[in-house]
Formats: sequence, C-alpha cells, structure tokens
Amino acid sequence: MSNVDNCRIIELPKISDPRGSLTFIEGNKHVPFNIERTYYLYDVPGGAQRGGHAHKELHQLIIAVSGSFDVVLDDGGKQKRIHLNRPYYGLYICPMIWRELDNFSSGSVCMVLASAHYDENDYYREYKDFVRAKSHG
Ligand code: TYD
Repeated sequence: MSNVDNCRIIELPKISDPRGSLTFIEGNKHVPFNIERTYYLYDVPGGAQRGGHAHKELHQLIIAVSGSFDVVLDDGGKQKRIHLNRPYYGLYICPMIWRELDNFSSGSVCMVLASAHYDENDYYREYKDFVRAKSHG
C-alpha cells in the first residue's frame, strides 16, 4: 500500500569544482524507476498552486533545480509538507499519492522525472475519487 512514508528525499550526486556544480541522475540507479519523461514548471506566479492530483501507476522524482517550493503529500490518511530548495535533493513520489505544490519562490524551476509518458488516464484529478480508490485498494 502506498503511503507518504514510502516517499522520500533522495540525495543526488553532486560534483563541484571551481567552475561550478554538476548533478546527474540515471534511471534505475539514482531513482527507483526507468525515466521515460521529464517536464518542468517555470514562470509560476506568486501564490499559485500546482499539482492537485494523484497518479495510479506513475513514479516521479521532483527537484527544485532553481529556487524553492513546497510539496504537500497526502495518502488519504496522513499528510506531509516537504520544502525543496536544493538542486541535489529529489523527492521521490510513489504511485497513489495525492500531491499539491505551493509556496514557489520567484524564478523557481520545478523539474519532474517520470516513469512513463503522459497519460491522462493515469490521473485522479478529484480528491474524492482518489480517496475512494484508496479505501477500496
Ligand atoms: P498537470 O499535470 O495538471 O500539471 P501540474 O501537475 O503541474 O499541475 O498538467 C497541466 C496540463 O499540461 C494538462 O493539460 C496536461 C498537460 N501535460 C501534458 O500534455 N504532458 C505532460 O507531460 C504533463 C505533465 C502535462
């Protein structure tokens, strides 16, 4: 059963030298899934909220590659708010977790690595549908 305690911060490799820092991510090595898709959120206006859905089968890693924001995780029973503000920390989110993203700093960029191509059928977009699926799961 997926719960918020299965979601965790993953510390990513960081290679720093006088020219700057570099972080890399390899599928099935630094993240527990094959990376099939990446997307990023940017130009997020102050006070905006993103997310507000759950995925049936998708695994994701969320990274604040620039700036900061909060991710609120909810498994239908327990909630957890996680602040992301370093490009070498990723938040792994397992399937069947409701998530909301808020508190974006100005100029922040939220990069997401995902285990599958985009599929609208993989979403629960209504919280009540998500909770119902959880209670029957
Ligand atoms: P949505 O998943 O609701 O965004 P967020 O999680 O950031 O709130 O997606 C917003 C829109 O973008 C929606 O119309 C679907 C589309 N979209 C794609 O076409 N491909 C993708 O990979 C993603 C993540 C979204």
